[in-house]
Amino acid sequence: MTIIDGKKVASEIKNELKQKVAAAVSKGLRPPHLTAVLVGNDPASWAYVKSKESASHKIGFTSSLLHFDEHISEAELLSVVHELNRDTNVDAYIVQLPLPKHIDEQKVILAVNPLKDVDGFHPLNLGKMLAGLPAFLPATPYGILELIKRYQIPTQGKHVLIIGRSLIVGRPLSILLGQKRQGGNATVTVAHSKTQNLKQLSLQADIIITAMGKPLFLKSDMVKNGVVIIDAGINSIDAPQTQRGYRLVGDVDFENVRQKASYITPVPGGVGPMTIAMLLQNTWKAYTLQQGLSE
Ligand code: GUN
Repeated sequence: MTIIDGKKVASEIKNELKQKVAAAVSKGLRPPHLTAVLVGNDPASWAYVKSKESASHKIGFTSSLLHFDEHISEAELLSVVHELNRDTNVDAYIVQLPLPKHIDEQKVILAVNPLKDVDGFHPLNLGKMLAGLPAFLPATPYGILELIKRYQIPTQGKHVLIIGRSLIVGRPLSILLGQKRQGGNATVTVAHSKTQNLKQLSLQADIIITAMGKPLFLKSDMVKNGVVIIDAGINSIDAPQTQRGYRLVGDVDFENVRQKASYITPVPGGVGPMTIAMLLQNTWKAYTLQQGLSE
């Protein structure tokens, strides 16, 4: 059994980027700039945005955080987005989701310039991905593909079960893994909250990717021997005996499932660090496109 070390792979990717940034700066170019837009004070969103900012600085990107009160109107937020689209010093930006209920997320995503859309959530980027054209891929699916590639896990002809159909993880992954190309060619099943007989499906799967946000959901009696497990869940559960009072776990009961797996990602330290690394990779791509450099 091999534990997939997302932290190590993410750090390799970040080192590669750091060298590219240093080379660009030594030629007199400004470094890439990533902006994060945060609305409200959701603790998980704050934590994500702060870790994106700190990872940006470590590799030599500059970054800014635009933080707004949760009562900002939809029109005001859209004008912030339009300003970011115009700002030539901002190569890339993300609007952290979820947004408050009075703001239409789809309207905001549609307003983002697709060339700066490093989340890959704009329908133009999603459509390009569907067509197999170069596009910004959403960071978590992109990170999962990269882990599969760097660990040389075969996907061709394999039965992949994705549990969860979110726009951010499950749906893009189902497209990417089924595509006719290296790292694709899988037979993909997408399961979700209305799926019946999930265990019957999971027992057949060669690769299981969980992204539904149910702590410790997947157990060893639901998987076959030799299965590859990729866990994109990050859930906080009470842990009164710890100093923080909580601990982070995935959608997979890691200790229970690991004996049956050939490869497995831990939480934390698996998919999570890859998401940030791929966001930075996308930011580098946005920068090179806008500066007319080759990637
Ligand atoms: N909320 C949870 N994951 C993400 C993400 O990848 N990007 C953005 N913008 N918001 C998120």
